[in-house]
Amino acid sequence: MTAPLLVVSGTGTGIGKTAVAASLVRVAGLQASVAGLKPVETGGTSDADALGQASTFHVTRFTSPYLLDDPVSPNVAARRSSRTIDIPTIVEWLAPFRCQADAVLVELPGGLFSPLSDTTTNADLVAALGPAKLLLVAPDRLGVLHDVLATVHAAAGRGITVDALVLSAAEHPDASTGTNAAELERLLPSVRVQASVPRVRHLTDLDDDLRALLPLLHWP
Ligand SMILES: Nc1ncnc2c1ncn2[C@@H]1O[C@H](COP(=O)(O)OP(=O)(O)OP(=O)(O)O)[C@@H](O)[C@H]1O
Ligand SMILES: [Mg+2]
Repeated sequence: MTAPLLVVSGTGTGIGKTAVAASLVRVAGLQASVAGLKPVETGGTSDADALGQASTFHVTRFTSPYLLDDPVSPNVAARRSSRTIDIPTIVEWLAPFRCQADAVLVELPGGLFSPLSDTTTNADLVAALGPAKLLLVAPDRLGVLHDVLATVHAAAGRGITVDALVLSAAEHPDASTGTNAAELERLLPSVRVQASVPRVRHLTDLDDDLRALLPLLHWP
């Protein structure tokens, strides 16, 4: 049996992917053994640590295969440390989690088309992972209409379906904030904005907002 896989990606970096992903791992983990993983991380281990802390499957014993020091895009960080990010290595590293946990969540670095190497992007990793739900996180601010449209259409061109979209409260709200969910539903009727998460003081305060997403995603 392979555990159901939820992949969390986004339209860019620093937009709330880990906040949403850790919350989903926490709420799913109330009923199941759930592993939250970040196989590729640059500039430290804070995402892998946050997902590990939220997990109810013992993920912290297994170090992510690509923890890269430089806080730059994965392809550049890997090159600077004389490494190459290899997609089959990531798929292989994930296999034991998918056999042993009840459900697995993987956060990808940066945006869906962030490069992992000179010739691959996160989208290639998604394709290599096989059946999975793909959740896209995007910030509720000006520019998000372009970023989501571009990402969803480029994904479709690769045969990748975005299953759900979560808008994350922008650190600096603007005149578009609060309107983007409805605009995206007009522009992209096939991809529902499943949640708009507020700015919170404690990230665990997101759990109640995101709990409803689990049955919609059929995950775990
Ligand atoms: N809903 C929220 N309320 C308050 N703070 C938030 C919220 N979402 C994210 N943050 C904060 O914003 C910052 C960026 O969020 P987060 O780390 O989740 O982004 P990310 O997309 O995962 O970034 P990266 O590309 O580095 O993985 C963090 O300091 C996080 O604590
Ligand atoms: Mg993150």
